[in-house]
Amino acid sequence: MGKIISISNQKGGVGKTTTTVNLAASLGAAGKKVLIIDLDPQGNTTSGLGFNKKEVEKSSYDVLEKDVSPEEATLKTEFKNLSLIPSHINLAAADAGISLFSGKESKLKNKIFELKKVYDFILIDCPPSL
Ligand SMILES: Nc1ncnc2c1ncn2[C@@H]1O[C@H](COP(=O)(O)OP(=O)(O)OP(=O)(O)O)[C@@H](O)[C@H]1O
Ligand SMILES: [Mg+2]
Repeated sequence: MGKIISISNQKGGVGKTTTTVNLAASLGAAGKKVLIIDLDPQGNTTSGLGFNKKEVEKSSYDVLEKDVSPEEATLKTEFKNLSLIPSHINLAAADAGISLFSGKESKLKNKIFELKKVYDFILIDCPPSL
């Protein structure tokens, strides 16, 4: 079963995204199957991996808020063994929205549980918030 690692810190600009991208690329180069979930509306991981944030069709927002499966939103990157569920700016709205009801903490966990059978590591780049 794969391991899920969230890279999170309430403070901004402390190296979350840099850690996510470099750790993921290194694990991929070492032969591990890796998925990054970009959960930050800023989308720096998404653009850092070479995708145009404005052209993303299905994002982590759709996985969280809509009836979109993680598989449908997953993109292959140019890096070995590395896939990405990209971010979208409308995640900013989701951040406000999902904070209103209980059970929000387990929403993503439940959605990606099955992916633990597919990937060795799932890294989640979090926004600078609680
Ligand atoms: N280990 C490091 N040493 C020096 N500079 C670093 C290191 N890690 C990251 N940086 C630099 O710090 C800045 C912020 O990094 P990064 O974007 O990874 O932070 P972040 O925590 O993801 O930010 P945000 O909270 O806005 O998402 C970038 O300019 C990055 O190049
Ligand atoms: Mg970041």
